[in-house]
Amino acid sequence: MSRLVVVSNRVAPIEEGQPTAGGLAAGVMDALRQHGGIWFGWSGDVRQEEVPPNPARTSGPITLFTTDLSQRDYDDYYRGFSNGTLWPVLHYQTSLMRFDWGEFAGYRRVNALFARCLMQLIKPDDMIWAHDFHLLGLADALRTAGAENRMGLFMHTPFPAPSVFSTIPAHAELIRAMCQYDLVGFQTESDRHAFTDYLTRQSGGQMLENGAVSCFGRVVRTGVYPIGIDVTEVRAQAEAERNQTEAQSLRAGLLGKSLIMSVERLDYSKGLRQRFGAYERFLAHHAEWRRKVIYLQVAPPSRTDIEAYRAIRKELEGEAGRINGRFAELDWVPLFYLNRSFARPALMPLYASARVGLVTPLRDGMNLVAKEYAAAQDPEDPGVLVLSQFAGAAREMETALLVNPYDEQGMAQALAQALAMPLEERKERHAAMIAVMREHSLERWRDRFEADLRAH
Ligand code: F6P
Repeated sequence: MSRLVVVSNRVAPIEEGQPTAGGLAAGVMDALRQHGGIWFGWSGDVRQEEVPPNPARTSGPITLFTTDLSQRDYDDYYRGFSNGTLWPVLHYQTSLMRFDWGEFAGYRRVNALFARCLMQLIKPDDMIWAHDFHLLGLADALRTAGAENRMGLFMHTPFPAPSVFSTIPAHAELIRAMCQYDLVGFQTESDRHAFTDYLTRQSGGQMLENGAVSCFGRVVRTGVYPIGIDVTEVRAQAEAERNQTEAQSLRAGLLGKSLIMSVERLDYSKGLRQRFGAYERFLAHHAEWRRKVIYLQVAPPSRTDIEAYRAIRKELEGEAGRINGRFAELDWVPLFYLNRSFARPALMPLYASARVGLVTPLRDGMNLVAKEYAAAQDPEDPGVLVLSQFAGAAREMETALLVNPYDEQGMAQALAQALAMPLEERKERHAAMIAVMREHSLERWRDRFEADLRAH
């Protein structure tokens, strides 16, 4: 059987207990851990000069190959085009997008660098599975270098409507490059539809059957593969004795108060400002909950050398201080705002302690925190998930309390409803979510994508 070669911008830390930021690393790591394979990507290190790839490392059945980036490549490819242009547009935040042709050239240069490194590693029948928006041009670069392997791309982020994607001046070039993949996978049907819509309306593509499109003289297949989690493992982690240290301190500090909890990278797409506003409204209009509730927001800083990220961080610091200043009492602090990360196993018992999981991104490809929160709950006394209708997870978790993340009043009402929800209703809603998550497991995500790529 052909080997699986996974490529992503960042390769996760493989040491046990290290924090992993974002759903991609967690998903890919879990997927590879079971069947093994090669994982190639950026080491996370930046050098002044270009340097050769690092020696291979192994972790169980996974062999990791990494390359460092030069300062120039980091600036143009990662900080510039990937995170300054693509990320905001893919999340419909076009007003935060900046574009520079030099950075776009750097993006293509690093995709070509990845391709050169991979050409040293791959065998002709290996299947290449690229992940996410950093690598839209990888298949194109590999084909230019002569690779004829099967190549698939999975988009962890949303894919926006064509009129939004077209705000990127290099949009046509990007789409042409994406069509060099044999299979492009998305989290939801609306992401897939946005991509094929672009192809048929703006690139002269012809819809074939089963989501395939003929375009640029090739046939690119598309599919929907919602990423999942291992529900049983998450619940086991939530209960495991060895993971309880931080949860114990948290519970000791709660003194019987109900906990509302959110965890995400500190990113403007996560809707934190509106969420803080919703909590403030909730406290203002539901005085009966004051002193009885605590909101814990965990938000490890991310992409800190990008202005939009520095701005949101500053704004949230101000807001957290202001909300606490307005409502805190000598014996009660309403909002705990932590700019740090936790190792993933330690998070699960924290989720299990929370009466409400508040997950309200403005846009999100999937959002695995929503799924992990639900999976960590005690089925006999589960908490309530309040979830943005614009997270991919909302397509599957229909029994969460779905909210519009721009509607602070609506979110405040949902908080009140969640905190007061009777046990029977909580159990019903939770059981329905668990059933869907068991069906749409991480294993199924990986197996379906691999099988479709293999079937080409
Ligand atoms: O989930 C989206 C994503 O961009 C992943 O590709 C990435 O691993 C994660 O967020 C963390 O972002 P970064 O690698 O930019 O710190």
